[in-house]
Amino acid sequence: MSGAVFPGRFAGKVIVVTGAAQGIGRAVALRAAAEGGKVLFVDRADFVAEVAAEAGAEAFTADLETWDGAEAAMRHAARLYGGIDILINNVGGAIRMRPFAEFEPEQIDAEIRRSLMPTLYSCRAVLPHLFARGGGAIVNVSSNATRGIHRVPYSAAKGGVNAITQSLAMELAGRNIRVVATAPGGTEAPPRRIPRNAEGDSAAEKAWMAEVVDQVKQSALMHRYATIEEQAAPILFLASDEASYITGSILPVAGGDTG
Ligand SMILES: NC(=O)c1ccc[n+]([C@@H]2O[C@H](COP(=O)([O-])OP(=O)(O)OC[C@H]3O[C@@H](n4cnc5c(N)ncnc54)[C@H](O)[C@@H]3O)[C@@H](O)[C@H]2O)c1
Repeated sequence: MSGAVFPGRFAGKVIVVTGAAQGIGRAVALRAAAEGGKVLFVDRADFVAEVAAEAGAEAFTADLETWDGAEAAMRHAARLYGGIDILINNVGGAIRMRPFAEFEPEQIDAEIRRSLMPTLYSCRAVLPHLFARGGGAIVNVSSNATRGIHRVPYSAAKGGVNAITQSLAMELAGRNIRVVATAPGGTEAPPRRIPRNAEGDSAAEKAWMAEVVDQVKQSALMHRYATIEEQAAPILFLASDEASYITGSILPVAGGDTG
């Protein structure tokens, strides 16, 4: 998706979108650019440059699981566009689906590095830039998997993202900075150019994944997955000035799935 649903909604705003090479982040970044934002597409994958070029926007390649990557990305955006107004922390995603008893310690660490640290580091790294601007917004992409099976370390990481959202909102409200999150449920995606698990999924992991899909579809009141567009829309609403009285909130976007 790249069309402007609300043309001009982000006119004059500098927006950093992380994980913008594919999936939800790509859709968010393309639409933010179509709606007038000056967008920096940040990703670890080199092909993020091709995606940004579709929108006539700029890209930056960084590993956001490191402090240096997060700090460099924010510095680059501020230098390129003269400041930052909005940060959308979208990097994350469960690497492996398996019962908790099947997780090896290093696999637990990898989930926390992927789905907690990029948001924690990027939130910290953007602060001087938002302070310099006198305000702004941070939208974190969490997950409804904080109530779901077979990905407990990922769920724990996203529980951490929720805690960052609520606690940082309290600290920053007096500085004219909103901190909000969406918690997406299961979302249909085209085949991923970058797989979540570079090693590929084993037969057992595919079976556990199928159990996750069944659980999510059963417990969602709407009994279906979301589209990527259905995830991008509330992220962009929360990022926009239309949401000016919303902070500290975590919006479930999960078809009524309460686990
Ligand atoms: N797709 C779903 O069903 C779903 C459900 C709930 C929540 N979410 C959340 O939505 C967000 C996006 O999900 P998606 O399915 O579109 O993701 P995806 O796996 O399709 O894409 C993630 C992007 O982030 C990039 N990335 C990964 N690690 C990175 C790093 N260390 N540094 C920089 N870039 C990195 C990847 O290269 C990729 O472009 C994630 O936070 C995920 O947890 C997704």
